This record gives sequence, structure tokens and C-alpha cells, in this order.
Amino acid sequence: MPPKMYAELARWFHLITAPEDYEEEAAFFVKHLTDACDRPPQTVLELGSGGGNNASHMKAHFEMTLVDFSPQMLALSKTINPELEHIEGDMRTVRLGRQGRACLEYDAVFVHDAVSYMTTKRDLRATFKTAFLHCRPGGAALFAPDDLVETFEQKVNTGGHTDESGRGIRYLEWKYDPDPKDTTCQTDYAYILREADGSVRVEHDQHITGLFSRGTWLQLLSKAGFDAEALPFDHSTLEPGSQEIFIAKRPA
Ligand SMILES: C[S@@+](CC[C@H](N)C(=O)[O-])C[C@H]1O[C@@H](n2cnc3c(N)ncnc32)[C@H](O)[C@@H]1O
Repeated sequence: MPPKMYAELARWFHLITAPEDYEEEAAFFVKHLTDACDRPPQTVLELGSGGGNNASHMKAHFEMTLVDFSPQMLALSKTINPELEHIEGDMRTVRLGRQGRACLEYDAVFVHDAVSYMTTKRDLRATFKTAFLHCRPGGAALFAPDDLVETFEQKVNTGGHTDESGRGIRYLEWKYDPDPKDTTCQTDYAYILREADGSVRVEHDQHITGLFSRGTWLQLLSKAGFDAEALPFDHSTLEPGSQEIFIAKRPA
């Protein structure tokens, strides 16, 4: 079962996390993708593009193709990125082919927090294979998982937004690791949803996400054929060192 946030509650996603709040991180991803490629990237494939929040900023720099396995999230992303190509697909298996070539190759592949939904090594391997096959030699992939074993901390967070119509959401998010011996952690959400007519309801949602060590990430990226390194995710709202990204270059 996918989280409600990406299915029946998808229309609330931009009120949970607003596109305008992504400007700083999108600029960080643009810089690192550009630095990692052997020439300035023009075409970028995003896997697990969700609400299209990052893409809404990154599209000023790249020609972007967005893939997600949730039709509801693709529909939401189209409301802010109508000019971009949106494709329904699973990041573990999608193959965008064209005229006899095994896969369409992009200058770069971007997988933001959606990669956190890869909960087994097998899932990660499959996603890295998709990224490798869709990245041209000399190009690069960037992955931004929410957590690594080394940086994981239980946390509680609150947030939410209200739109001009009065429709709004406030949430409480509680992330923890019920079994430190497995490769997942759990985030429970309590959402308070207020419709424009003032009616209010409460929903519970649960997200199971992957938790792997930095060494596992680097080993699996290398096995997929990438030259990979981990870098700190620098952002004004993050504690220094609390999150990392992976830059994976496909050798020319
Ligand atoms: C947090 S949202 C991504 C938000 C995105 N970073 C943005 O900028 O708007 C996570 C997305 O991952 C997608 N997702 C999860 N597993 C997936 C998979 N196996 N293949 C494709 N998309 C997946 C979900 O449908 C959801 O839209």
C-alpha cells in the first residue's frame, strides 16, 4: 500500500511541503549535477519526482523529464510544471527507450528524497541500474536519501500551509527506527485537514523508508558501474553533517 500522501491525499501535498520552499535546495542540486558532468547537462531525468517541487526550480536550468509511480502525484506536478514531460513508472524498472536503443540516455539523473522509499538492497540495486542505463557516459546521477545509518536520528517535526481558499493542513511527523537490525525506519504522520468550507478531519499515515550505511550506498553504486562519492547536504535548515547526498559519475 503506498502512503496516503501519494495516493488519496496527494492533492494536499503542496500544502504539506510548498514548491516555493525548494529554491535553495534546487540550486544546490543544480550546482552539484552541473559540476559532476563532463559538460554542462541539458537533459535531466528525475525519478520519483513527486509534486514536482524541485523540478519547478530546476527546469530553469535543464530540460526535465519527470517519472513517478503515482498518477495522483504526476497530476499534481502537472499543475505547476505543465510544460514538462511526465511519465508514470517505477524507478526500479522503468526503461525509457527510443528507436532501437535500449534506453534513452540523459545528461544527468536526479533522484531526490523518493529514493528513501527503496527499503531493500535489491530495490537500491534496481534503482541504480535504472539510473545508470539512463545516464550518458560522462554524465552523472545525484541521489538525496533522507537518512543514512550514520546520520539517523529519531525526530519529531510539525508543519503545514493554508491556501487562499482557506483549505489547509497541519501535520505532526514522528520518525523512529523500531528495529535497528533491519534496513528500514518508520515515519508516522498525523494530518489535520481543513477543507475550504471549514470542515476538519484527521488522518493517520505511515511511511516505511530505507536505512542503509554510507558504505552500502557506495558499494552498490560502484557495482552498478558508477564512480561515486558522498557529500554533505548543505542547506540553511539542516544541521551541518546531518544529511548527505551521493554523486555518481558514469565513466566516459
Ligand atoms: C516525497 S515525494 C517526492 C517529492 C519531490 N522530491 C518533489 O520535489 O516534489 C516521494 C515520491 O516518490 C514516489 N515514489 C516512491 N516509490 C517510487 C518508485 N518505486 N518509483 C517511482 N516513484 C516512487 C512517490 O509516489 C512520491 O511521489
